[in-house]
Amino acid sequence: MSEYPSPEQLSSIVDDLAEQGWSLQPDFLTQALTLELAEECRKRAAQGTLLPASIGRGQRQAVQEGIRGDRIQWLEPGQSHACDQYLAKLESLRQAINQGLYLGLEDYESHFALYPPGAFYKKHVDRFRDDDRRAVSVVLYLNQQWQAEQGGELRLHLPDGQVCDVQPQAGVLVIFLSAGMPHEVLPAQRERLSLTGWFRRRGSSSL
Ligand code: OGA
Ligand code: MN
Repeated sequence: MSEYPSPEQLSSIVDDLAEQGWSLQPDFLTQALTLELAEECRKRAAQGTLLPASIGRGQRQAVQEGIRGDRIQWLEPGQSHACDQYLAKLESLRQAINQGLYLGLEDYESHFALYPPGAFYKKHVDRFRDDDRRAVSVVLYLNQQWQAEQGGELRLHLPDGQVCDVQPQAGVLVIFLSAGMPHEVLPAQRERLSLTGWFRRRGSSSL
């Protein structure tokens, strides 16, 4: 069986990040693992463990469906075979990025996200006002046979002023430097599943 992510995929991500600040990989994981992760996300949703996502941190933290309408659950190691495999793949990506770009990424935090039909996430940057540890954002989509007319695109506002829309098709991985990339999630006509996460650096602020 070939290796996922392959050494070629890892180096193409590192090159893309260096050259343009973002990368899109159509088949980051095997289809089997992507399917298992989608099933796990659905199972968690059915069990009621995905909860309305909030924005901000500390005293500013609040659920605001007018800004983001997804439901999430954070991943912990040891919860399932599929999640542990995913975390192991992301660990190899973290090491490849550190070797290629010297970003000093220390760890990875990630959550399942489910956007019910009609839900969206308004344009934002993946950084908190009082915490600059998030350095690289990663989104893996889990939706089999997504159709263009179903909406739900990730809209990236690229540093050169262009806009790039990505359909949340199963197996697609989007990765970008968190600080320089405003982005938004457009409303979809069907449930939209993903695993979203951040490679973090050591904090420079003590807040
Ligand atoms: C986020 C986010 C993008 C997506 O959770 O911060 O921007 O496509 N998600 O789900
Ligand atoms: Mn975001």
